[in-house]
Amino acid sequence: MSKSGKGGGELRLPQHIAIIMDGNGRWAKRRLLPRSAGHRSGAKTFQNIARYANQIGIRYMTVYAFSTENWKRPQEEIDNLMNLLRDYLKDAKNFQAENIQMQFIGDLTVLPADMQALIRRDEALSADATGMHLNIAVNYGGRDEIVQAVRRLAAEVKAGALEPSDIDQETLSARLYTAGQPDPDLIIRPSGEYRLSNYLIWQSAYAEFWFSDILWPDFKPKHLMQAIEAFGGRDRRFGGV
Ligand code: FPP
Repeated sequence: MSKSGKGGGELRLPQHIAIIMDGNGRWAKRRLLPRSAGHRSGAKTFQNIARYANQIGIRYMTVYAFSTENWKRPQEEIDNLMNLLRDYLKDAKNFQAENIQMQFIGDLTVLPADMQALIRRDEALSADATGMHLNIAVNYGGRDEIVQAVRRLAAEVKAGALEPSDIDQETLSARLYTAGQPDPDLIIRPSGEYRLSNYLIWQSAYAEFWFSDILWPDFKPKHLMQAIEAFGGRDRRFGGV
């Protein structure tokens, strides 16, 4: 997929960008603010970047909002993150005005009932949107996702609906939360960390990575464009020559 760049040249756009929105806590600390202020600012950055990505023609975006490991954080911080998500979910015009299709990925069954209901509502409200498909990962872990998919396959084999020899990469991919979506071709992690942190570990097999020292609340559309331009210059061989 490509789109005309500023200089008239062709900009090769990734189809699917995944982002680890890291550095909210450090951003707040540097300003002597509580961590909650960092997350609030990070949530605003998320909205800004999702809107921009949609406007420039990115088809899929996945953001890591809350991992299966984030429950280890102090209860106050967990509540704060859940409240930010709740506020976003309540305000459907956030994504409706942008024609963005919303999907939540992760084990959502442990979320408060009101949030689960809002998630179902927002997914239904945006089901026919033709803009960018936005996955928000909540209580998401890549290993957990694979375990859930394997359990489903095992249940299907037990029920006689599938032969073990039918199981291949496609059948497993089709049971992940991201079933039917292209794998992320660009993964962005700001804040100077160089880890995948259990994020989309199956789907990222051939992804390109872009790292930066910018803390997530400071992440601007120009940084997304830098990552996209770097992606455009990569030679992707998928194991070939
Ligand atoms: C990592 O930074 C960030 C998170 C664990 C939460 C990310 C969530 C948001 C940006 C808000 C999401 C809201 C919506 C509406 C999707 P950190 O806290 O680990 O930062 P640190 O490493 O500097 O401490």
